[in-house]
Amino acid sequence: MAKGHPRATRRLALPGLMIFLLIPILYTLILRRGAHSLHPLKSQVSPRESSLSLRSDGKSKKERGSSLSLTVEEDGAAVEEFNKFLTHKLARGEAQSELSQNGISCTSDRSSDVCITSAAVRIATSASSSSHSLSAVYLVGNQQLPRNSDIIFRPYPRKFDPEAMQETSPIQIVGGHPNPPPCDITHPLPAVIFSTGGFAGNFFHDINDLIIPLFLTTGHLRSRIRLVATDFRPWWAHKYRRVLSRLAADEIIAASSAFADVGPAKVHCFPAAIVGLKYHGNLACNVSDAPSGISVQKFRRFLHEALSLKADRVVRAEEPTVVLISRRNSRALLNEDEIIETAREIGFRVEIAAPKRMWKMESFAELVNGCGVLMGVHGAGLTNMVFLPPGAVLLQVVPWGLDWASEVYYGQPAQQMGLQYVEYHIEVQESTLYDKYPGDHPILADPWSINNQGYNVSKPVYVDGQNLRLNLTRFRETLLLAFQLLPRPS
Ligand SMILES: *[C@@H]1O[C@H](CO)[C@@H](O)[C@H](O)[C@H]1NC(C)=O
Ligand SMILES: *[C@@H]1O[C@H](CO)[C@@H](O)[C@H](O)[C@H]1NC(C)=O
Ligand SMILES: *[C@@H]1O[C@H](CO)[C@@H](O)[C@H](O)[C@H]1NC(C)=O
Repeated sequence: MAKGHPRATRRLALPGLMIFLLIPILYTLILRRGAHSLHPLKSQVSPRESSLSLRSDGKSKKERGSSLSLTVEEDGAAVEEFNKFLTHKLARGEAQSELSQNGISCTSDRSSDVCITSAAVRIATSASSSSHSLSAVYLVGNQQLPRNSDIIFRPYPRKFDPEAMQETSPIQIVGGHPNPPPCDITHPLPAVIFSTGGFAGNFFHDINDLIIPLFLTTGHLRSRIRLVATDFRPWWAHKYRRVLSRLAADEIIAASSAFADVGPAKVHCFPAAIVGLKYHGNLACNVSDAPSGISVQKFRRFLHEALSLKADRVVRAEEPTVVLISRRNSRALLNEDEIIETAREIGFRVEIAAPKRMWKMESFAELVNGCGVLMGVHGAGLTNMVFLPPGAVLLQVVPWGLDWASEVYYGQPAQQMGLQYVEYHIEVQESTLYDKYPGDHPILADPWSINNQGYNVSKPVYVDGQNLRLNLTRFRETLLLAFQLLPRPS
């Protein structure tokens, strides 16, 4: 498993290996539209389309289509706000001067590639519902790509993870095409283009890879953007509709989908765009990273507001609620009934959260927002801590061999979020692995030696291969500690 903290940002360069991997894609593309892609001719670019751009001509406005829902003034103001956001918040140092000089700047770190442009783009959507269709973003505002070469990347902020990338279609940013396709639909607002492929559908990844990055990338813009999704999953957009509607005007535009019919291929035109999403680490918003000044507390407030979650502090209750995330297929609590009984003896009201209950996110979020303790074995369900009120407790049960993952994915983020954090480390006898291997086997005796062999080796053993039977004498102490951390009625 790799750490999820982005490393120092560097200029986007296609490493040799990646270019090698992309050759088949490029080849298909060349066959499809002639040989222009390899020799973008800067002299043949079409005229600028953006109505407003900060980078050269300041306040000049151009007539725009009449079928737009916003007036020219509002539309111009939204684009101006967008470009201000790009130049003041998203782009830093070299990227900032690059953006003002070239109208586009692309940055790359360990997790994410992001291109931002203050000038017009056209996005060709794909009609086919095949997976991995390549979507093209044509730069038509005179942007200058570095080295005059097109850029291809997968707009999902987990590029170090081959499994996630396999589920994410590439996007090609095409500079200086002599003959970009004509607009079918002209939008007055800038676009933010990302993929709902990757690991979308797993709640940790939904929040970590998409919702937080979307908030980082668009939260400043007060919904004055349109979202464009590749690998579009309609049920995903439906599940998060109340959150997404706070980030963007109108529905998501589906650029490609292997899951649904997204209608005939269309060319959508925008005055400016961001391709890809900013990413700050596991369930994190880093106030000092770009766009600056966004804390994970800010994200939580945004999320709670979007879902109308009212509790802004943990309630003083005679009988506080513990929500128990109940896993079934792996890392299950084999003595769950006894654990529930113990929690009741201590004085908790127990709510059991089976996967089906969690899928109804909005009602489940409300339940979590009203509880004192969210408890469960290490796993995606613990991500529901984003709905806890400040001061509530996350209680994580750490399975055998998963100390590090428990700490970086949930332990540290919980504390960053202003929650109280309690951990129960199982002893080896409490894992079903203990029944399968002799006591001196490295799986029991030396988990690091297994973890060091890579996630493909450790996952089937520790993540998928064990259930837990907690020692109730010991676990009672942890539950009691969580209980005592909660405010009591005075
Ligand atoms: C937060 O961002 C700053 C600036 O990019 C960086 O120096 C720092 O290491 C980041 N902190 C974490 C915890 O990633
Ligand atoms: C796990 O992945 C590594 C490369 O990351 C590879 O060398 C190794 O053979 C793989 N092991 C298994 C059991 O698949
Ligand atoms: C459970 O934990 C207690 C306290 O640490 C210990 O004395 C007891 O032996 C444990 N029980 C089992 C079955 O391991």
